[in-house]
Amino acid sequence: MDFTGKVAVITGGASGMGAATAREFRAAGAEVVIVDRNAGLAAQVVDELGCAVAIGDVSDSVFCNMAVEKVLKRYGRLDILVNAAGIIVRADALNTSDEQWQRVLNVNVNGVFFMSRAALGPMKKQGQGVIINFGSIWGEVGAVGVVAYCASKGAIHQMTRAMALDHVKDGIRINAVCPGEVNTPMLASERSEPVTPELMQRLAEAVPLGRMAEPVEIARVVLFMASDAASYMTGAMITVDAGYTAR
Ligand SMILES: NC(=O)c1ccc[n+]([C@@H]2O[C@H](COP(=O)([O-])OP(=O)(O)OC[C@H]3O[C@@H](n4cnc5c(N)ncnc54)[C@H](O)[C@@H]3O)[C@@H](O)[C@H]2O)c1
Repeated sequence: MDFTGKVAVITGGASGMGAATAREFRAAGAEVVIVDRNAGLAAQVVDELGCAVAIGDVSDSVFCNMAVEKVLKRYGRLDILVNAAGIIVRADALNTSDEQWQRVLNVNVNGVFFMSRAALGPMKKQGQGVIINFGSIWGEVGAVGVVAYCASKGAIHQMTRAMALDHVKDGIRINAVCPGEVNTPMLASERSEPVTPELMQRLAEAVPLGRMAEPVEIARVVLFMASDAASYMTGAMITVDAGYTAR
């Protein structure tokens, strides 16, 4: 796939699947701008890829508008937005505080909405654009002990479908990639038990293929979804879970 001349903005681009996606887009010739609140991690990706960066919080709509303006000022266009920034809280409803509930929805749902809304205007003017949201298998099926996360991913899936319909005639395709278990730093995030080899093995054994995905295996699907090869695809949830939800 060749993305030469295309400008791709990737939120959460400093880590995990966002960073892997940034790497793949750079390798395919795109100009890449990563958007992330973790300046230290983002600096490493910028050094590695020679890409641009906007540091800030995607749950802040003012920042999202500024980040897109910065992209337009620098490159004059925005072809691809990948919304990969996300967080998790691991708790059932009785153990989820107001602050945790709001934090997850602010980042995962508001962040996707604010960045997408900021990008839709310029994409509509261009008469073309692609948005890819990171949903999850937990947006389609339930899971134990992650109620806020499941709710947020379900909301992302419905936002994806609704926005896709609103902008299908504007030449903008909007889809979600829905990964299963992926080996990223999020695995350890907010977990009460340590990430031991035994835990990794348990997680791997729960997957029909018998292993977790590596971030690049999701990033490659994102690149396909952003490419002209996916020209008839919009409003779709693309599951990449090695059969997890096929049962
Ligand atoms: N890891 C998995 O198993 C898995 C499975 C399905 C879906 N997902 C989703 O994939 C996406 C990427 O996850 P990952 O596993 O690569 O996570 P990760 O923790 O490795 O990376 C997430 C990145 O998002 C950034 N971020 C978080 N909140 C932000 C905010 N408010 N503003 C700006 N940046 C912010 C972080 O700094 C980090 O760089 C997330 O949306 C996640 O929910 C992950």
